[in-house]
Amino acid sequence: MKNLILTALLAATFLSPLRAQEHYTPSPENLKARSEFRDNKFGIFLHWGLYAMLATGEWTMTNKNLAWDEYEKLAGGFYPSKFDAASWVSAIKASGAKYICFTTRHHEGFSMFKTKYSPYNVVDGSPFGRDIVKELADECHRQGIKIHFYYSHLDWYRNDYPWGRTGRGTGRTNPKGDWPSYYQFMNNQLTELLTNYGEVGAIWFDGWWDQDENPDFDWQLPEQYALIHRLQPACLVGNNHHQVPFEGEDIQIFERDLPGENTAGLSGQDISSLPLETCETMNGMWGYKITDQDYKSTKTLIHYLVKAAGKDANLLMNIGPQPDGELPAVAVQRLAEMGEWMKVYGETIYGTRGGCVAPHPWGVTTQKGNRLFVHLLTPQDKAIFLPIGDRKVKKAFRFVDKTPLKVQRCEGGVVLSLPELPTDVDYVAELVLAE
Ligand code: GLC
Repeated sequence: MKNLILTALLAATFLSPLRAQEHYTPSPENLKARSEFRDNKFGIFLHWGLYAMLATGEWTMTNKNLAWDEYEKLAGGFYPSKFDAASWVSAIKASGAKYICFTTRHHEGFSMFKTKYSPYNVVDGSPFGRDIVKELADECHRQGIKIHFYYSHLDWYRNDYPWGRTGRGTGRTNPKGDWPSYYQFMNNQLTELLTNYGEVGAIWFDGWWDQDENPDFDWQLPEQYALIHRLQPACLVGNNHHQVPFEGEDIQIFERDLPGENTAGLSGQDISSLPLETCETMNGMWGYKITDQDYKSTKTLIHYLVKAAGKDANLLMNIGPQPDGELPAVAVQRLAEMGEWMKVYGETIYGTRGGCVAPHPWGVTTQKGNRLFVHLLTPQDKAIFLPIGDRKVKKAFRFVDKTPLKVQRCEGGVVLSLPELPTDVDYVAELVLAE
């Protein structure tokens, strides 16, 4: 009998999903996906849900203390008549982005996909009746661009989600919630997302911070992450918790700041050795905001992308689709213009790593083997000192037309001289370094 219990215990230890104290070893498929992710460098984030109809961003439900049973009536009027996954994906692909991260269920709690586990979803709970996630995922697969799923850990609608520091005014009646029920619900949905939509590049979690005033709160992440990796070993797990990555995560996410910077007050965490990604908005809001037409210029957007690459990070640039199902025209124009630039300069971005010269006020460097790309974003001088130590420069030229450039050795590196002060969006010089 004792033996039997021992055997059962042992079996439970080895067969059960990852436990908190166990070490996560990424699978070979996962490691490959990580390096592809790093190579891809550029993705587009899409925040879309019922909140698009309120047109004041994705936080309106909690910001305005909207009662969940009133809010849910939005679903009855959700009919984005112009939604066409093919045109979204084409417009995004034209920008040079290699993946799309889509909000499958944001904090408002409405599922943008067909789920068995709640009628509050786009297929069963709205007149639109079409599985938006499915149409988008299928189209991404068809057009050869990866699909990532954003998934909110917190929920302002459900009664079983234990109250965190947001969503307290949405009329839910049970502050304690019912964690086992909610946890099961999330895992059921994640199982659907990783079973019914083909290959998923990443699950992008958000909302962990909602419980940061409850230090004892246990999200049971290791088991959830193990579930994801069991269903799709190559699927990358990321969590926008603004902390150093937790066990079981495959990428490190930054919000509204480049790694190592903290202008938005959401960063400051150490930079890990995992692939990095930073997300930013194209205007000032994630979800559609009718009064915010203040889109960043194409030049600014390109600078974000280049600076991210110079810090060895991907850029995930957000667009909030309109309630009618279209991407805002300005956003589509920005995508097209970024794409024009990427057609010419993509080689200095895709597949690169942060260069051996750290970011400087003039710009950043990216590198592919012994090819060093010097991105002069805001040069103040025609002569640029590059601290590359004793490394020899075999060749130096302007990337775009191969015009040779002068390089002179000096103490600690070389000085690159340009014929005149560049006015380009990004003047790229390529230096071929000796091995
Ligand atoms: C924040 C916001 C959320 C948004 C996310 C994107 O966590 O709460 O609305 O989806 O940032 O990075």
